[in-house]
Amino acid sequence: MDKSAAMAASAHPVDAASVDVVKPKPPGFAVIPGAGDLRVRRAEKKAFSVGVIGYGYWGPNIVRNFQLQDQSEVAVVCDRRPEALAKVARNYPNVEITTDINEVLKSPNVDVVAVVTPVWTHFELAKAALENGKHVFVEKPFTATAEQAEQLIELAERRNLKIMVDHTFLFTGAVRKMKHLIDAGELGELFYYDSTRVNLGLFQHDVNVVWDLAPHDLSIMDYLLPGSPQAIVATGQKHVNGVEDIAFLTVYYPNKLIAHINVNWLSPVKVRTTMVGGGKKMLMWNDLESDEKIKVYDRGVQMNAQTREGVYDLLVSYRSGDMWAPQIESTEALKLELGYFTQCIMDNKQPINDGQAGLRIVKMLQATDESLRHHGDQIRL
Ligand SMILES: NC(=O)c1ccc[n+]([C@@H]2O[C@H](COP(=O)([O-])OP(=O)(O)OC[C@H]3O[C@@H](n4cnc5c(N)ncnc54)[C@H](O)[C@@H]3O)[C@@H](O)[C@H]2O)c1
Repeated sequence: MDKSAAMAASAHPVDAASVDVVKPKPPGFAVIPGAGDLRVRRAEKKAFSVGVIGYGYWGPNIVRNFQLQDQSEVAVVCDRRPEALAKVARNYPNVEITTDINEVLKSPNVDVVAVVTPVWTHFELAKAALENGKHVFVEKPFTATAEQAEQLIELAERRNLKIMVDHTFLFTGAVRKMKHLIDAGELGELFYYDSTRVNLGLFQHDVNVVWDLAPHDLSIMDYLLPGSPQAIVATGQKHVNGVEDIAFLTVYYPNKLIAHINVNWLSPVKVRTTMVGGGKKMLMWNDLESDEKIKVYDRGVQMNAQTREGVYDLLVSYRSGDMWAPQIESTEALKLELGYFTQCIMDNKQPINDGQAGLRIVKMLQATDESLRHHGDQIRL
């Protein structure tokens, strides 16, 4: 955020020395709401100027975290709803506001477009942004279909532009700790991933509970688990507004690794727990805990073969060792994620949550829908 310009504007609302009234607006100038057409020159310009489309529930988090970065600042926010833009004007007096998406998509002042609108709008907005030479940050889930995701990936590659899909959880201290533990072999061979992500609402009208909540688990699994998923089985029901409000997904991985996800908008309480079980250790992640979000248990079973009077028996023995709660980093995930995005653009590197990662999740979501339609048929991936 251009703090010096904002401070200057509030201290001297119409300072003749810093005001430019000439149209059209040249790059590097910001509208000060309440000051009519007066424009105040930015004191300095950060490496990336961001245009954000969508300032509903999630958009404010994206704007705030792009503003927090050393490398980026938000130049313009677009929303169809004037009341949403009024909030932007109140919170960020030197950010431009508009209801016209072309003022974001076609602005020479914008390097990165963040698409923070409902999923059915992602493809058209991201495509237009890429066609206008902008890097794109797109909310989860990436697109409504795998074909759309493939088109965007191809377009970005052709234009040498970056796509990042907001798989926010990958940047949480908890998921990064789990990644470290799994990759270091602490849990041993993985047996299962079992997640419960339930609460009362927020009911969505355009997507079912799977497209709303499961992208979090699917993206975490995509990051943490070895190998590629082979098949999905899903069951669910529609009770309230014509889309599934409760669903149970089972995802089959190679080597007997199995994942289960329970998503539900009709739960009386909010629950966010995930268990990951391995041959050596198991862990429990409770995201609603403020301390000790992850507990690692030195517990498991062992099969001991032994012969008794010539008969070959298998004896199960249980190991119940220590539990420990590793230290988890508490930096806000979106802050890390957006800083990483601008770094990837500068270094010309593919983010871990690039378009391909977004595509893998969309394929799983589509397979889930197909299984739901066929009352739990197994769908190969
Ligand atoms: N990463 C996360 O943890 C997380 C959390 C919540 C939502 N999301 C995602 O963020 C996206 C938005 O969700 P939300 O809950 O903020 O939705 P929302 O409905 O609260 O907000 C969307 C906003 O976009 C605006 N909008 C829609 N189409 C537009 C268009 N063509 N031009 C301009 N403005 C337009 C709407 O007016 C609205 O203000 C979804 O893809 C959702 O899945 C991600």
